[in-house]
Amino acid sequence: MDTILNVSRVCSGYGELPVLQDVDLQVQRGEIVAVVGANGAGKTTLLLTISGHLRAQSGSVTFNGEDVSAQPAHAAVGRGLVMVPESGRLFPFMTVLENLELGAFHDKARAHMKANLQEVMEYFPILADRRSQLAGRLSGGERQMCALARAMMGMPRLLMLDEPSLGLAPIMVDRVFELVKNLVDKKGLSVLLVEQNVRNALQMCQRGYVIEHGQLLKTGSGQELLHDPDVQRSYMGL
Ligand SMILES: Nc1ncnc2c1ncn2[C@@H]1O[C@H](COP(=O)(O)OP(=O)(O)OP(=O)(O)O)[C@@H](O)[C@H]1O
Ligand SMILES: [Mg+2]
Repeated sequence: MDTILNVSRVCSGYGELPVLQDVDLQVQRGEIVAVVGANGAGKTTLLLTISGHLRAQSGSVTFNGEDVSAQPAHAAVGRGLVMVPESGRLFPFMTVLENLELGAFHDKARAHMKANLQEVMEYFPILADRRSQLAGRLSGGERQMCALARAMMGMPRLLMLDEPSLGLAPIMVDRVFELVKNLVDKKGLSVLLVEQNVRNALQMCQRGYVIEHGQLLKTGSGQELLHDPDVQRSYMGL
């Protein structure tokens, strides 16, 4: 198998506070992998550790065959490891277009900025319509699309999404997940998706992991986990 991300026995946290304990996780090229769990389980901490915003206390993170455990976050983006933070974190007082341009901040992305802008505007036509509007005035769904498009401007190989469904109406969740799936097919990306929206995330991924109190408890195909009685009881209200 062709592994793009390998997280091995990672422990991480904030100062004295341990959060992740011995986390092992892999993403293969072209795969959508979901990490699902409750509030405070450690999902965001996992993404921050992989992207280099937080330094792992032990263990290793290998991306595209290279140990990136000690790399700063800005270097990760240049390698194709791009994160869409929770609620998108757009710059509200900048236009849609300016936000998208900011996604292209490493050399290679800057060199391809014009073509990439055209491509994301075609892929998300609503953003072309709203290009001159302030990002702070976008609807929740539009904001999430703008955040995805901004990440695409960084030319990711692995896209990490932190709760893209948060605050969206169910129909918008379906739409955003569909857009992500199509991007994976079209661009040959890999996706690591973390979600509290367990049912939708497991429906859309090939494989999933369940995280509880900083530990990965279970893994399996999306379908296996969707039909797992423990997962259904704990996370799907069944
Ligand atoms: N900056 C921080 N400093 C100290 N503790 C933090 C910090 N950020 C998160 N934590 C703690 O780390 C634990 C894991 O938080 P994390 O944000 O990773 O959870 P999560 O799974 O993303 O939750 P949610 O679904 O609510 O976003 C929690 O106990 C949280 O209180
Ligand atoms: Mg979180």
